[in-house]
Amino acid sequence: MDIQHIPVLCNEVLDFLEPKSGGIYVDATVGVGGHSSAILAESSPNGRIIGIDLDADALEISRARLHTFTDRYLLIHGNFARMDALLKNCSVEAVDGILLDLGVSSLQLDTPGRGFGFKHTGPLDMRMNPRQSLLAVQVVNDSAVETLVDIFKRYGEERFARRIAYRIVQARQKEPITTTTRLADIVKAAIPQKASRIHPATRVFQALRIYVNAELENLDTGLDAAISLLKPGGCLCVITFHSLEDRIVKRRFQRCARTCICPPKTPVCICEHEPSLQILTKRPVLPAAGEVQANPRARSAKLRAARKIAFSPFLAEN
Ligand SMILES: C[S@@+](CC[C@H](N)C(=O)[O-])C[C@H]1O[C@@H](n2cnc3c(N)ncnc32)[C@H](O)[C@@H]1O
Repeated sequence: MDIQHIPVLCNEVLDFLEPKSGGIYVDATVGVGGHSSAILAESSPNGRIIGIDLDADALEISRARLHTFTDRYLLIHGNFARMDALLKNCSVEAVDGILLDLGVSSLQLDTPGRGFGFKHTGPLDMRMNPRQSLLAVQVVNDSAVETLVDIFKRYGEERFARRIAYRIVQARQKEPITTTTRLADIVKAAIPQKASRIHPATRVFQALRIYVNAELENLDTGLDAAISLLKPGGCLCVITFHSLEDRIVKRRFQRCARTCICPPKTPVCICEHEPSLQILTKRPVLPAAGEVQANPRARSAKLRAARKIAFSPFLAEN
């Protein structure tokens, strides 16, 4: 199968990261290495990349793609939520820039055996890390109806969450639901048919994927780890693909950029909060029409960027 993943908003990421020779950059979702190869090319001759991914298959493809950069890259199989510990193991304490390009790659989406999509029949798997024990098939067949309702509402913002969950429970009583296309058919039959831009099962698949891979929890922890690893002046770029992720990034950036985080109406500031980030994107950067035309998967992408602020003892004293 010919699988290609076109890196999204790549020029815009380079504009914010400004990769330089001698710099160390983390591609925390290296995938098949699209952004990493651009960062390495831009930071020639001595810039270095540490690429992290949960998906060992993606890392193999990255390794083949990046090999022309000889010893300037290091690939780590791991979770970006623990990037501080992963880097510490390699004796790296601070870096010049970090990229998180969230979600799934085309490699994952277009491989039916991974179970992320429903265009082709595949097992209900959805694990980014095939070593993980929780699979989507267990969630779909073993969860209580209320748990399914909660997953579809919380992670898919699905209006018909309850109807879909009840249909799933009915269907699995006859026979376990084990394939992507069977689940998609059940969801389609559960909700009113009307013309829509997206397939009726899209939100349910998104919700299951987020739940199985603990994506929002990883993002939450990963942002803290990333901010702590940046050198003063270093840049953090995050590309999100749905509103739940974007909200987490936007709020974290706003909180880190504030000079005071006291509860509203506190008469005098008592928090002694130090801003750690300067926000570089007042509004998220979106792909240009030409990029979306060339790569429709870029259509929901949003890029936010922020720069680490140096700790100011002067501010702390006053
Ligand atoms: C959109 S793709 C990245 C594509 C990459 N920028 C490129 O140009 O090839 C997202 C990647 O993030 C990985 N991923 C998602 N969550 C992760 C996590 N918590 N830790 C590490 N990798 C993760 C996925 O396995 C996937 O390969």
